Amino acid sequence: MSRIPKETVDQIIQQADIVEVVGDFVNLKKKGQNMWAPCPFHNEKSPSFSVSPAKGIYKCFGCGKAGNSVQFIMDVENIGYVDALKYLAHKYAIEIPEEEVSPEVNQAQNDRESQYILSSFAKEYFHDILQNHEQGKSIGLPYLQERGLSAVTIKEFELGYSLEAWDGLTNAALAKGFQKQYLESTGLTIFKDTKQYDRFRARVMFPIHNLSGRVVGFGGRTLKSNDKTPKYVNSPESEIYHKSDILYGLYQAKQAVRNLDNCFLVEGYLDVLSLAQGGIKNVVASSGTSLTENQIKAIGRFTQNITVLYDGDAAGIKASLRGIDLILEGGLNVSVVLFPDKEDPDSYIRQVGDTAFKAYIDKNAKDFISFKTELFAEEAQHNPVKKAEAIKEVISSIAKIPDSIKRAVFLQRCSTLFGIEEQVLITEYNKHLRQERPKPAPATLPFPEKPTEPVLADPEEQVAADDAVLVHHEKEVIRLLLNYSTNRLPDGEAFVPYLLEQLEDVEFKMPIFNRIIELFREAVPQSPFISPDFFINNPEKEVREEAVQLLTEKFELSPNWETHQIIVPTETDMLQFAADTAVLRLKWRNVQQMIRDNMEALKYEKDVEEVTKQLTILKTLQQYEVEIGAQLGIVVSR
Ligand code: GTP
Ligand code: MN
Repeated sequence: MSRIPKETVDQIIQQADIVEVVGDFVNLKKKGQNMWAPCPFHNEKSPSFSVSPAKGIYKCFGCGKAGNSVQFIMDVENIGYVDALKYLAHKYAIEIPEEEVSPEVNQAQNDRESQYILSSFAKEYFHDILQNHEQGKSIGLPYLQERGLSAVTIKEFELGYSLEAWDGLTNAALAKGFQKQYLESTGLTIFKDTKQYDRFRARVMFPIHNLSGRVVGFGGRTLKSNDKTPKYVNSPESEIYHKSDILYGLYQAKQAVRNLDNCFLVEGYLDVLSLAQGGIKNVVASSGTSLTENQIKAIGRFTQNITVLYDGDAAGIKASLRGIDLILEGGLNVSVVLFPDKEDPDSYIRQVGDTAFKAYIDKNAKDFISFKTELFAEEAQHNPVKKAEAIKEVISSIAKIPDSIKRAVFLQRCSTLFGIEEQVLITEYNKHLRQERPKPAPATLPFPEKPTEPVLADPEEQVAADDAVLVHHEKEVIRLLLNYSTNRLPDGEAFVPYLLEQLEDVEFKMPIFNRIIELFREAVPQSPFISPDFFINNPEKEVREEAVQLLTEKFELSPNWETHQIIVPTETDMLQFAADTAVLRLKWRNVQQMIRDNMEALKYEKDVEEVTKQLTILKTLQQYEVEIGAQLGIVVSR
């Protein structure tokens, strides 16, 4: 792990505007004081992911993920703290002093970073071969030109060429000081027994980028048309390349997808390139493999609308049908365009030109019901059995749509199209549902938000419930500390020291709460007013995460952030009372816990002297319980 100097970290955090950082990944819309979008971390259609520009934090009310800019990058890119800081430093052109030493070479801090750097080197290498090497100029480049690709497209997508040699890239990388282990883990070099050789040889190279534009893998197309060698060779899965998460071209397309609010989905690399070159920039490819849930989710960050552009042959139709259901299941809207037999989007746009191509799409895009209906239409027209099959097909797709209103609309549409009463369709739909496997129950939270105190038969459950209540009270105290850390009490005294004093003898059950208290105690001597930023941007990950959760907690009471302005003043007015009560409740629970522990211990204690001692303690504890209870207005009966 490398260290980034504290000043640089502060500078990065200060410059990393949460709206800008998050905006690179999702389409934020302003509503009130905050910005909203569908959450990038879980599947949803209605936005419950919000960004507070004022606080510099994001929060999803659906899945609970929350944090500052750095945390967002960590979550969305699935990288560590240091890497996230580096990402932001790069975005804001902030120099990290230490990194100057020799960034390209393999002194990278961890495996992922090394793999990224090597992949980037390989991309440059292949690109250079294409442009400057004899083989590139005489073989690779002419091929791409013949396929109609311009210099601009080649540059934008960073295309390259791999030499007809066993050790082209491998030697170049080793000479640069890259370690073999990364050549192996990225799959760029194949190690077999004692031999090592380039995976990609004599192929046109298509670098595959992740959403932040870093190269994670490659596809390589052979120029030979014999059957001996596969048409495409691809990088294997690696720590940086998760095939099921990545769509070819999404990095280049994301802005257009967002602006046009639609994403074209094609099958091949060359389809993406030809369309993009023809001015249709909102295009991505699933690259031969069947579409995955995560890929749809990735598109869903930028638009809710996908138009599938597949070949009109049987394989294309089959792939479209699979894609449709998956997209519907992901909660997105889907249209389909099929191309005439033997044509794919690439060949078709080259045949008819950009304008006619766009017109063709407009004219032929069908929603999934029409698409499925028409697939069966000819046969179905005079064949009731086929018609029933077609209806079942459509209904099974409708059942995939998570939104009930949308489902109803489509059922209605289906009823009109087929000329069948809606009620009949609904019956059919319900029949279909019963045949489907039931969904697994949703996961439960470790601690209930509002703990109830039911009578539980199972003693273990009882202990868990007691713990939950205790932790709830601990949390409330910490929440007050964090949310009012710059407040004063009515008499002018600073709030934090006041509350800390009352907690002098309290040990928290949750270690993270103890840590936060400790940080408060350390900070108070410098100033009794402590900015929440100190916790939101704390170097300790757990502190940051907990702080952000608790700083956004009160909003959770109402999903509408705006209303907190009504809640806050009330709580501020009552701050002293709220704090006193929270501490008392916590102490009361603590005492009860101690009493239970004490009684439990007594059950097994045989030593008479020890029993007497414990009984005295028990009496004192029970005395406390009554006293604290009285202050809380609770009558304790024992
Ligand atoms: P052209 O045939 O040159 O137009 O390439 P294309 O990209 O249009 O390929 P095609 O339509 O045949 O296939 C669509 C996608 O499937 C390709 O872009 C590849 O991602 C993938 N694919 C095709 N053939 C192979 C193969 O032999 N091996 C692997 N791994 N993937 C392939
Ligand atoms: Mn093709």
